[in-house]
Amino acid sequence: LGGAAVGIGVAATASAARAGVLPAPSRPDLDGLNGDRVVPFYGAHQAGVTSTPGAFVTYVSLALLSSTTREDMRSLMRLLTDDAARLTQGIGPLADIEPELVANPAGLTVTFGFGAGFVARAGATAPRWLATLPAFSIDRLEERYSGADLLLILHGDDKVVISHAVRLLLRDSRRFASHLWTQSGFRQSYGTAPQGTTMRNLFGQLDGTANFAPGSKDFDAAVSARADAPGWLQGGGTSFVLRRIAMDLEGWDEVGREGRGEVVGRHIDTGAPLTGKHEHDAPDFEAKGPLGFTVINPASHIARAHAAEPEQSIVRMAHNYDDPPEGEATSNVGLLFGSWQADVAAQFVPMQERLAQGDLLNQWTTPIGSTVVAIPPGCEPGGFIGEGLLS
Ligand code: HEM
Repeated sequence: LGGAAVGIGVAATASAARAGVLPAPSRPDLDGLNGDRVVPFYGAHQAGVTSTPGAFVTYVSLALLSSTTREDMRSLMRLLTDDAARLTQGIGPLADIEPELVANPAGLTVTFGFGAGFVARAGATAPRWLATLPAFSIDRLEERYSGADLLLILHGDDKVVISHAVRLLLRDSRRFASHLWTQSGFRQSYGTAPQGTTMRNLFGQLDGTANFAPGSKDFDAAVSARADAPGWLQGGGTSFVLRRIAMDLEGWDEVGREGRGEVVGRHIDTGAPLTGKHEHDAPDFEAKGPLGFTVINPASHIARAHAAEPEQSIVRMAHNYDDPPEGEATSNVGLLFGSWQADVAAQFVPMQERLAQGDLLNQWTTPIGSTVVAIPPGCEPGGFIGEGLLS
């Protein structure tokens, strides 16, 4: 090892340090610790809707026990809201024996979504779009990844924090609900790329470029519950669709770099549309090349997905998953594709239908899980999530 290390010089010093031969240099973190980052819990929207998605996400699906009453649901949501309000601020909930595990919350948010079963059990009016999605031709859905009465959405930059928060939320829901499934995903870790960098999915694509920024008029138009939604969703409510979409990496490996760009309508390296130079240049779906064809293939993913107006669009929140391969496969990766929109039937469904009918990307992607929930508004101190539905 000594000879090889001397030959490599500087690199050898660094790797020796990593191996623990030299003490790792200790330097002050001048920017402050990301672990100290706290996202306020209270507000019109639940915090997870408007905050920048964390590097890690965990979705937990719960089914109400058949014995759970409306009264119980109120106790459940009071308890879980209290837990979430504390956990996200770095404070252990009541009877947390290891509050140290959340002392540095690293931007943790906890968001609650209500499935059709939850609203029905509450005896309340459901928005007309709160239902299982229509079957799309490309779907190969599996029960183990689909459906929820109550969906917990936790995102943040630290897996340890998320893990502890999930444990406590499950502990406090046990009397009223059983666990159906958990799905976890990730993006690049905090600090790997500059803040604000669009995440890359495991096909290497920049994913999330054409998203509206929270706080903007377009975000509001796409996300905030419409006037025709039931009263309990008004003032900050929305909806969330979670699709688990398997990505065929082996098949994708056979596509050249140029072909990969054509499939999406954007360059792989910069994420710029094929008609532009920079990531955030607006795509020109009409521009023609020398042979008279449009530069962006009309069957490309962005051409099919693009919605003319923000009211018809969605706000996406994608995380990768990479689970142990099953059977003969050598990979089991894909996207936990989440989307926020005011009205699932008016926004998500027509878009997904356009994609199902003719998106070039379909050859390498397969939806295998699907869940739709209503996201009630946030609450104020002393209130609880879902109070409009359950009070
Ligand atoms: C594994 C599945 C998917 C992959 C790998 C994927 C990837 C991408 C990529 C690379 C972009 C371009 C950059 C960007 O604006 O984010 C994009 C754009 C987009 N995708 Fe997807 N996507 C997937 C599934 C979906 C689904 C299921 C929907 C909705 C039903 C969707 C809706 C959109 C929309 C609305 C855009 C922006 C289009 C525009 O430029 O206006 N995607 N996606």
